[in-house]
Amino acid sequence: MKIAILPGDGIGTEIVAEAVKVLHALDLKFETETALVGGAAYDAHGHPLPDATLKLAKESDAILFGAVGDWKYDTLDRPLRPEQAILGLRKNLGLFANFRPAICYPQLVDASSLKRELVSGLDILIIRELTGDIYFGQPRGRRVSPDGHFPGAEEAFDTMRYSRPEIQRIAHVAFQAARKRSSRVTSVDKANVLETFQLWKDVLTEIGKEYPDVALDHMYVDNAAMQLVKAPKKFDVVVTGNMFGDILSDAAAMLTGSIGMLPSASLNTKNQGLYEPSHGSAPDIAGKGVANPLATILSAAMMLRFSLNQPEAAVRIEKAVDAVLTQGLRTPDIFSEGTTKVGTVQMGDAVVKALSQS
Ligand code: IPM
Ligand code: MN
Repeated sequence: MKIAILPGDGIGTEIVAEAVKVLHALDLKFETETALVGGAAYDAHGHPLPDATLKLAKESDAILFGAVGDWKYDTLDRPLRPEQAILGLRKNLGLFANFRPAICYPQLVDASSLKRELVSGLDILIIRELTGDIYFGQPRGRRVSPDGHFPGAEEAFDTMRYSRPEIQRIAHVAFQAARKRSSRVTSVDKANVLETFQLWKDVLTEIGKEYPDVALDHMYVDNAAMQLVKAPKKFDVVVTGNMFGDILSDAAAMLTGSIGMLPSASLNTKNQGLYEPSHGSAPDIAGKGVANPLATILSAAMMLRFSLNQPEAAVRIEKAVDAVLTQGLRTPDIFSEGTTKVGTVQMGDAVVKALSQS
């Protein structure tokens, strides 16, 4: 088993170090190799996704990714910006299926911005298509407007597009995931306005017929945003496109108390996967040793389960995380009165200790 370690920028290096520490505490046989990515790679090599990093990612069974980005790169040309590294990895490895679970731990129920009764017991899985949609659609660019309200003015344009096979394969992923849970899928679209999402809805309905045991409903994305904050527990598996999934998964994350708790997995057809926390590089707190490493540690657990065929080890990590929360240890993002504030390294150490006691 080979794991590529790509810490990236900002808090990425701090949180990935903790996850690697936890992996090494498991007593499994695996090889790791670390490479630069994002702004760190741009600084060293002039490109956010150097060939060597991409090569390492391609030949690994799994990738543990931190986060990329910093304000200081905002003025670079788009192809050189740190975000292009994660987009390039997703595209080049064909990581089309993004799993973003949002689980509210009972110990953290009061850290949520919503009332306790709305989020207590919350366990939803957002499945976001990750290699299509307006993120990658061509053409895109800037030009002098040939028509419209202001002909002759500068304009910018992107293209939202999905092909039938792209929608079919993510639909299968969603229905199969639902079978392992409570057999309900909500497909989120904007079919009332967008041709792309009419096709999406049609294909979801078609594929749904192959899964008669799974209940499928369709919801417009604006309503889905409302329902997520009104009655989030009504959802089980949510499947949607790249952009809607980006937005809804941040909202869902906050329901659980902190985005610092949420892992994610991005898989291709070979079950090769990239595992990263759902949050970003948080340059405002980088280097201070206060970032919450639990989302990355839980991402490592997902990696063991999905790409490395070590489900027992995954469960051990998840139980250890549960244990440190029960002990009352909290990084500042989830701190509340009556709990113990700890830093990034202390949190990682506590997980390792809990593992040794399990
Ligand atoms: C995410 C991030 C990325 C995205 C950015 C960093 C390109 O927000 O993984 O959700 O928009 O997909
Ligand atoms: Mn996002």
